[in-house]
Amino acid sequence: DKGAYPFYMLKEIDEQPAVMRRLVQEYLGANGKPQIDEKLLAQMQEADHLYIVGAGTSYHAGLVGARLFERFAQIPTSVHISSEFAYEQPLLSKKPFFIFLSQSGETADSREVLVHVNENKWPSLTITNVDKSTLSREATHTLLLYAGPEIAVASTKAYTAQVAVEAILAKALGEYLGLEAAQKFDVKDELAKVANGMQALVDSKDEIEAIASHALSKPRNAFYIGRGLDWSVSLEAALKLKEISYVQAEGFASGELKHGTIALIEKNTPVIGIITQSRTAGLTRSNLEETAARGANILTIASRHLAKEDDSIILPDVDEMISPLLSVVPAQLLAYYTSLGKGLDVDKPRNLAKSVTVQ
Ligand code: M6R
Repeated sequence: DKGAYPFYMLKEIDEQPAVMRRLVQEYLGANGKPQIDEKLLAQMQEADHLYIVGAGTSYHAGLVGARLFERFAQIPTSVHISSEFAYEQPLLSKKPFFIFLSQSGETADSREVLVHVNENKWPSLTITNVDKSTLSREATHTLLLYAGPEIAVASTKAYTAQVAVEAILAKALGEYLGLEAAQKFDVKDELAKVANGMQALVDSKDEIEAIASHALSKPRNAFYIGRGLDWSVSLEAALKLKEISYVQAEGFASGELKHGTIALIEKNTPVIGIITQSRTAGLTRSNLEETAARGANILTIASRHLAKEDDSIILPDVDEMISPLLSVVPAQLLAYYTSLGKGLDVDKPRNLAKSVTVQ
C-alpha cells in the first residue's frame, strides 16, 4: 500500500534511511561486529577472485561492491553483466567465488550463470531481497536485503541495501582475514551516518524537484560524470533518468570526455558531476568546466568536505568508500521529479517489467 504517496517509487526512496537502520540491526551486533555466517567467510577467504554477477541496477551495485571487496578484503574482484557472462564466459581464476546480486532473485540471465556455476560446483552467494527466491535457493549462501517489497519498476532502496550489505560483508571478510583497513572501517557508525544523511536528503525534496524542473524537464539528453565510485554512481543515476523519464542519459568516466564524448555537448545540455572522492574531485571539476566552456548547463552533487559554494546539491559527509549510498539519492529524486513533471507513470515505465524472467 502506498498510503499518501502518489507513487511507490517516492515511498521507496523515502524508506531508505529505515532500510539502513534495519541492516545495522540485522547484521551488526551491539559491538558493531558483523554477524555473518563463518562458513561463508571461510569459503570466500579461500577464493583467489570474486566474480560479481547482476543485471541493470544490481550490476551497478556490483560495481561499487567490487571496490569495497578489493579495498577491505584485498581479494581481486570483477563485475559482470549476467546476460554477457552467460554467453561469453571470461577465463576464470583457479578458485572462483560467485556473488549474485538480484533484488527479485528471479532474473533469468543471472540464473543462467548460476546454473553453470553449480554444474561446476563453484561456491556462491546470492544477495537478494526475496527469501527463498530461485537465486537464493540455488546458491550456496544467501544474504537478505531486508528492504521490504520493492514495487516500482525503478529500483531504489534495493540498490542502497545491496551496497550496504556489500560494505558489511567486505568489512566482515577483511576482519576475518586480519586486515587493518577492515578493522579501521567502522561500518556500524558509518551506516548510522548514512541513514541520517539520507534522511536529510529526502527532506530536501523541494530543492531537488526545483532543480529537476529547471534543468531536466526539457532537454532530450543529459550526462552524469564522475571518476571511480562517482563514475559507478553516474551509470546508475543515468539508468534511473532514462528508465522513468525517457531522457537519453549516459554516465561517463569524466576523464573519457575528451576522448570522444565531449562532442555530444551542445548549448544547455545538462551535465551533472558527482564529486565525493578527494583524489579526483579537482579533476572532475575541471572536466565539468570543459563542458561548461562548450555551453553545457553544469550541475554538481558534492560531498560537504569537497563542496564549493555554488554546488547544486551538497551531501552530508560519510566515509568516501560508501559515498554511493548518499550520492545516488538526489539522482533517484531527480529522475522521479523529471518523470512526474512530464506526467508519466513513474512506477510503470513503458516497455518494462519489474522482474525480467526471460533471457
Ligand atoms: O531483480 P534484479 O535485481 O535481478 O533485477 C535486475 C534488473 O532488471 C533491475 O535492476 C532493473 O535494471 C531495474 N528496473 C532498474 O531500475
